[in-house]
Amino acid sequence: MEVLFRPRRLRRGEGLRKLVRETLLTPADFIYPLFAAPGKGVRQEIGAMPGVFRLSPELLAEEARAAADLGIPAVLLFGLPRQKDETGSEAASPKGTVQQAVRRLKKAVPHLVVITDVCLCSYTSHGHCGIIRQGEVDNDATLDVLAQVAVSHAEAGVDMVAPSDMMDGRVAAIREALDERGFEMVGILSYAVKYASAFYGPFREAAESAPQFGDRRGYQMDPANAREAIREAALDIEEGADIIMVKPALPYLDIIARLRPEVDLPLAAYQVSGEYAMIKAAAQRGWLAETAVMLESLLGIKRAGADMILTYFAKEAAKLLK
Ligand code: PBG
Repeated sequence: MEVLFRPRRLRRGEGLRKLVRETLLTPADFIYPLFAAPGKGVRQEIGAMPGVFRLSPELLAEEARAAADLGIPAVLLFGLPRQKDETGSEAASPKGTVQQAVRRLKKAVPHLVVITDVCLCSYTSHGHCGIIRQGEVDNDATLDVLAQVAVSHAEAGVDMVAPSDMMDGRVAAIREALDERGFEMVGILSYAVKYASAFYGPFREAAESAPQFGDRRGYQMDPANAREAIREAALDIEEGADIIMVKPALPYLDIIARLRPEVDLPLAAYQVSGEYAMIKAAAQRGWLAETAVMLESLLGIKRAGADMILTYFAKEAAKLLK
């Protein structure tokens, strides 16, 4: 007699489904991105990111504590400067917004892992991620500045820095600068595989970091390329990265899955602002069930091979998963 295999046997009831479930999401999977604004008492909601705020350092510390209380192990900080200029000089200032926020956070919630984004785009008047020479983002001139920014974050007490500029050689430059100053235990979460994506749109409003001329295709990766992702990851590993990130997440699940067997370091994926905005907008119109779609998209990212997920949904998801 022909035996019919019935996969449905293992789907009969939540107990069986639980038993055979391959991927589990937990609050410990999340890194929660936060925007540090200068001043005091600042809490400004970002237009295309409902529920996400620019926060001054004391309110940011409260928000981070709430996240830690939900079991989220880490936050990623972005800073907004008081003033932008051609070279983004405020990015490395010990009195900068991010540096202040880091000091406050490490004091208020010592066990929370604090990671800082290292980039110049929100600090430069032209909105590019590096120093401009002859109308172009100059790779090697930018490296020194990025290294100084990373050192200033380390001096403020950060646990890891996350360079997101996509200059060649920046992981090595930052590693060397940190080690020289005695910060050999400060880690590097590298945005190793970062695509030139239109999904960053809402973030650029949040960070006021849209390029004032041209675009970022001269330094971020071409969305058409997959093999190149392996090369980018390999370079950053060689240069001393501790964690490799893929960004964005949902449109690049193939890249996460492809990198997973190639990379023995932990792999992170960034569910970016546009991914968040799409779900929020559809939910607001009643077109999608927000919590279900949020959890399913996060699960998909983890199933593809990410060990950790940077997501603006971190708190909402953690509340449901706790
Ligand atoms: C800075 C940076 C960007 C993001 C993280 N770091 C924007 C960009 O490269 O234009 C995007 C994050 C998001 O969209 O949520 N270089």
